[in-house]
Amino acid sequence: MLYSNIIRPILFNLPAEIAHNITMKQLEFLQQSALGRGVIRYLGGEVKSSPINVMGLQFKHPVGLAAGLDKDAMAIRGLFELGFSHIEVGTLTPRPQPGNEKPRLFRLKKDEALINRMGFNNHGSLAASNRLIKRDPSWGIVGGNIGRNKMTDNENAVDDYLISMNHLRASVDYFTVNISSPNTPGLRDLQHKKALNNLLSAVFEENKKSDTPRPLAVKISPDLSKEEIQSISRLAVECGFSGIIGTNTTIGRDSLKTKTNKVKKAGLGGLSGKPLNGRSTDVVQWIKEAVDDSVAIIGVGGVFTAQDVIDKRNAGADLVQIYTGFVYNGPSMIHDIQEAWRP
Ligand SMILES: Cc1cc2nc3c(=O)[nH]c(=O)nc-3n(C[C@H](O)[C@H](O)[C@H](O)COP(=O)(O)O)c2cc1C
Repeated sequence: MLYSNIIRPILFNLPAEIAHNITMKQLEFLQQSALGRGVIRYLGGEVKSSPINVMGLQFKHPVGLAAGLDKDAMAIRGLFELGFSHIEVGTLTPRPQPGNEKPRLFRLKKDEALINRMGFNNHGSLAASNRLIKRDPSWGIVGGNIGRNKMTDNENAVDDYLISMNHLRASVDYFTVNISSPNTPGLRDLQHKKALNNLLSAVFEENKKSDTPRPLAVKISPDLSKEEIQSISRLAVECGFSGIIGTNTTIGRDSLKTKTNKVKKAGLGGLSGKPLNGRSTDVVQWIKEAVDDSVAIIGVGGVFTAQDVIDKRNAGADLVQIYTGFVYNGPSMIHDIQEAWRP
């Protein structure tokens, strides 16, 4: 109520990225004191524990925050206080980069959707690692989502992923190899079989060298065909990965309620939120058909309600993540949808 009647109208009056930055600054501020954390917990409501073991990690419950909201791990304590069981930071690249020109984040309110072409704006994987190393592991699970810098070509992409892994290996609980953002030119070509085999095998080998190898997940695009998704899923299993995250944002613009010129005005980028829900649930189901229980499946895309969570679970998801639903519904949604997972 507080969110939908007061906070959201104020935030939605501002350009989307400014609203995002203000929210993150508030969380960063509030997370620093016991009083502030109490305020955050009040906003999120009570989130009960329903422990679940996925990828060999113990999650307090199945609902987490998708990558991209707290790319630089600035507010993870605050986000855990809101009730997320896990937070995926990133996408992080080995070198800091500013991302694309602004404006680069747009709301399609009629569709309860967002279009973004942020372009991996981040402070770099080392800076995030230095922040994360100080966290208390009892807050929850942190995933490190890694990608390549914009200026690195695909021939040298593997090195970027390995550098970030080495920066982050002591400070995250699992890694996500992101090959599916539409906003880094050429990145999604890494989903082609030969390049992907190369990348996933190299990541696996590098991980194995560590004293503390982490579970590995790969995040895929909803814009691939069923055959491509199933072939990537099998490859991920062959390469020793423990999880597949389906899905990232889509470049599709089908069946939107928002007027075409408004959609065109937003321009290129990845669409997230309600319009992505059906497709991402289909993707979860295709992954499940292809690999059954041999990897964990993390369902992401258009989760807004308890029913959306149940649909993702029925399609085969072991965990769900949210981003756009959180922007539209506010913090109490974690409590509402997490309840749905209960038997
Ligand atoms: C503004 C914005 C930035 C994002 N940045 C990233 C990112 O850096 N890395 C990534 O893997 N996914 C990123 N995503 C994709 C989300 O993690 C998620 O896969 C997608 O938005 C679908 O979920 P949703 O419909 O709940 O938002 C971003 C999404 C949004 C809206």
